[in-house]
Amino acid sequence: MALIDEITRRRTFAVIAHPDAGKTTLTEKLLLFGGAIHVAGAVKSNKIKKGATSDFMEIERQRGISVATSVMGFNYKDVKINILDTPGHEDFAEDTYRTLTAVDSVIIVIDGAKGVEAQTRKLMNVCRMRNTPVMVFINKLDRPCKDPFDLLDEVERELQIRVRPLAFPISSGDTFKGVYNIYEKNLSLFTSDERQTADASTVDFSDISSPELDTYISKQYADQLRENLDLVEAVYDEFDREAYLEGKLAPVFFGSAVNNFGVRELLECFIRIAPSPRKSTTENRLVEPSEAKMTGFVFKIHANMDPNHRDRIAFMKICSGTFERNKNYLHVRSGKQLKFSSPTAFMAEKKSVIDFAYPGDIVGLHDTGTFKIGDTFTEGEKLKFTGIPSFSPELFRYIENADPMKFKQLAKGIDQLMDEGVAQLFTSNLNGRKIIGTVGQLQFEVIQYRLEHEYGAMCRWEPISIHKACWIESDNAEQLADFKRRKHSNMAVDKHGRDVFLADTSYALALAQENFKDIRFHFTSEF
Ligand code: G4P
Repeated sequence: MALIDEITRRRTFAVIAHPDAGKTTLTEKLLLFGGAIHVAGAVKSNKIKKGATSDFMEIERQRGISVATSVMGFNYKDVKINILDTPGHEDFAEDTYRTLTAVDSVIIVIDGAKGVEAQTRKLMNVCRMRNTPVMVFINKLDRPCKDPFDLLDEVERELQIRVRPLAFPISSGDTFKGVYNIYEKNLSLFTSDERQTADASTVDFSDISSPELDTYISKQYADQLRENLDLVEAVYDEFDREAYLEGKLAPVFFGSAVNNFGVRELLECFIRIAPSPRKSTTENRLVEPSEAKMTGFVFKIHANMDPNHRDRIAFMKICSGTFERNKNYLHVRSGKQLKFSSPTAFMAEKKSVIDFAYPGDIVGLHDTGTFKIGDTFTEGEKLKFTGIPSFSPELFRYIENADPMKFKQLAKGIDQLMDEGVAQLFTSNLNGRKIIGTVGQLQFEVIQYRLEHEYGAMCRWEPISIHKACWIESDNAEQLADFKRRKHSNMAVDKHGRDVFLADTSYALALAQENFKDIRFHFTSEF
């Protein structure tokens, strides 16, 4: 198959949601359709269940599972689908943010009873930064849900994106009748049957004024549906695919993932409208997927669970050309030529060595500690892909060595864990002490545990009161120097030596922004 055909048949995306909205369930149903798995329950998420936060064995076990489910590839109707999994636990949100840099589109799952929740908003902000096209699946219609129009308004308002329903539900909860598929012009009748597969019970209904509709869902609900659909047509513009591809308009579907209801309709529409691999931005130029030469970047690094084999898997997204096994590629950061004898691809829960991979595919590379997040591979060109920022962490602690004999091990462990993107390291200008910043409490426990079990080092945490870390820069060198002098005790450098301001309180940050107008305060590392 020609490269261009391989590209156009690929869809690489992530399912994102607030925990418990149904991300895992939906992912599993999608895999069932692809024939990638055959029984429900075969794919467990990498989510760490609530209440297991201090159970380290659970964390380790989940890390193992998450290697297997990091990428789930399958074929559906000649389309090669790659679903990138994202951690369900919000303490690992940073992992999710990075995974979102490797996808071409996103499906957002929302619980129809709860509406838009905190984590969904945060994730949507990341999608917005990259204009990622998003589709919305409103889930759990088998439970009493909010009014569909209210939900649509809520999505529009809270996620700051225009919406266009491509399906519309008929009631919810005990009286849930089904969904009218505006996109396909047919009616899917709700049956709560988990084994339901590709042929759901759908009835063609291009003309919903037909009295026949009443026989399926009763006159009362048929009339209500007609009224609602009239309102949809009056309120929302025609579905505009271009606006969707630009990340400005989200098509919305309704269903019940656990009952495998509405999932086929979502998938059918997805393969038709979702984008194949898109152009990627580098510091130098835009890279087209159809370029003959291979380029790709590492967006995720996964440490091996087995402490006796401390190797890691680096996940590379192919951005252009054809990746080949045993071919030399330039590792741009080190300037070295590297080749991979056993690159792996992921099909559902199986991992296998591959000879070729194409744009949109994710390849697992064996890594002994040389790779970092953001590393670029090319056939010689010195490119650096952009759009893999670090986000300003929210929790901070000093990290101290608890075993003076293991100083080197600790330094190496911290270094490698930071390269993996587990957390961020800052060095205080005031006292040279090392500060770890994370997005969740759990990371501190994970770091301590992994330092001990993988590196034989012991660490101790000490409290530090910081509200926010932000990267600063300015064209006004004098003002920047003045700021750094005055705020000396609140200044630090990140791992790359860049200036970071550690604001004690939101008030101190607001005051600094007010008093130093020429300084730009950034909340992501890429600006
Ligand atoms: P997550 O990955 O987004 O965190 O959510 P997950 O799929 O694990 O779903 C969270 C809970 O919601 C699960 O129940 C799941 O069965 C349920 N669920 C998912 N889709 C639907 C739906 O369409 N309708 C209803 N009523 N429930 C749904 P659980 O009790 O937490 O777990 P489990 O023991 O059932 O696996």
